[in-house]
Amino acid sequence: MLHGKTILLIIGGGIAAFKSLDLIRRMRDEGARVVPVLTKTAEEFVTPLSVSALSAEKTYRDLFDLTDEAEMGHIELSRAADLIVVAPATADLIGKMANGLANDLASTLLMATDKRVLIAPSMNVRMWHHPACQRNVATLKSDGVLCVGPDEGNMACGEFGLGRMAEVPDIIAATSAALSDGPLKGKHVLVTSGPTHELIDPVRYIANRSSGAQGTAIASALRDLGAEVTFVTGPADVPPPAGVTVVAVETAREMKEAVEAALPADAAVFAAAVADWRVASQSGSKIKKKDGALPVLEFAENPDILASVSQMEKGRPPLVVGFAAETDQVLEHATAKRLRKGCDWIVANDVSPETGIMGGAENAVTLISEVGAEVWQRMGKTDVARKLALRIADEIA
Ligand code: CTP
Repeated sequence: MLHGKTILLIIGGGIAAFKSLDLIRRMRDEGARVVPVLTKTAEEFVTPLSVSALSAEKTYRDLFDLTDEAEMGHIELSRAADLIVVAPATADLIGKMANGLANDLASTLLMATDKRVLIAPSMNVRMWHHPACQRNVATLKSDGVLCVGPDEGNMACGEFGLGRMAEVPDIIAATSAALSDGPLKGKHVLVTSGPTHELIDPVRYIANRSSGAQGTAIASALRDLGAEVTFVTGPADVPPPAGVTVVAVETAREMKEAVEAALPADAAVFAAAVADWRVASQSGSKIKKKDGALPVLEFAENPDILASVSQMEKGRPPLVVGFAAETDQVLEHATAKRLRKGCDWIVANDVSPETGIMGGAENAVTLISEVGAEVWQRMGKTDVARKLALRIADEIA
């Protein structure tokens, strides 16, 4: 996937630097030449010797190293690359990049380049959520810097949360998407997927049935065409795809917030099975059984995310795609839904139990747009995803 490409890999000083050794190996397996740069603090975690052994290249470390400058000056280093990958991208490196500081080799290279930059942030969960870091990441994204991860999980410091560096296969996928010349290169596409869970009490919830398989396949297909994908997902059965920005949410209201935060986008695909209702007064403690008395739940309507984005007056994505899972009068209901919600396209499907589509590997959809309805033959969910991604590319590329 990376054949013939030169990647300048900047390794920042974080515990995740050990994963960068594997990253070098995997990038080379994919056919890339990897030119490594270590920051001073990175040397506390990995040695130049191991980095050079794995990359089969000189490890660049010092801005004022005369031997380095004689071999390849820092400006030249950053120009010779097809892509710069910063992994791990520490809070410090991100802060420097966002604010244009250049006081060591890594930060100077990042300032001196006109190539695309992909960062894989890695830090403690509190550092990641700190407003300063979030501000810096937002600045970088608006500067066109690509971002993979961070993931959620246990951290080296004993805490749990967002901040772990993305796994190596995810960084590889994001690297090849960044280098791909697919028709969606440079486009940002937002995809919602999976169900939402609406809590009744701390241990019970209501939800829609959805494995998240179709939304995941769509996000992967868009990524493969070169798009930068933000994947807002409820608690799904299938893992999110590699090489996309994953925002995990639980409820419809959280999903709406995450969608709004991810805009602007060139297209938005709403494949999530959002619960239409939530329990109006969620109980803070577990509801106990009381002598056979049945609890009575009152519901409140959830915000309709697809409708609200479709009807945005400012910043509406140029292409908004909704889904309509129906059990009867599929075409009529879906056509009416497109008009009611105001989206451009609706992907309609029949999810009656006899079709086996819910939770299955196949899907039979009809694409409804302003110009009419187009019936697609029954095919695998991955093929539906690929076909839809190509149609999106035709529309917005
Ligand atoms: N959707 C959404 N937010 C909601 C409900 C639905 O974004 N609160 C999106 C879904 O992701 C999907 C589309 O709207 O793309 C269709 O959802 P559906 O549940 O079929 O529509 P409803 O408005 O709930 O219509 P129905 O009366 O059939 O339930």
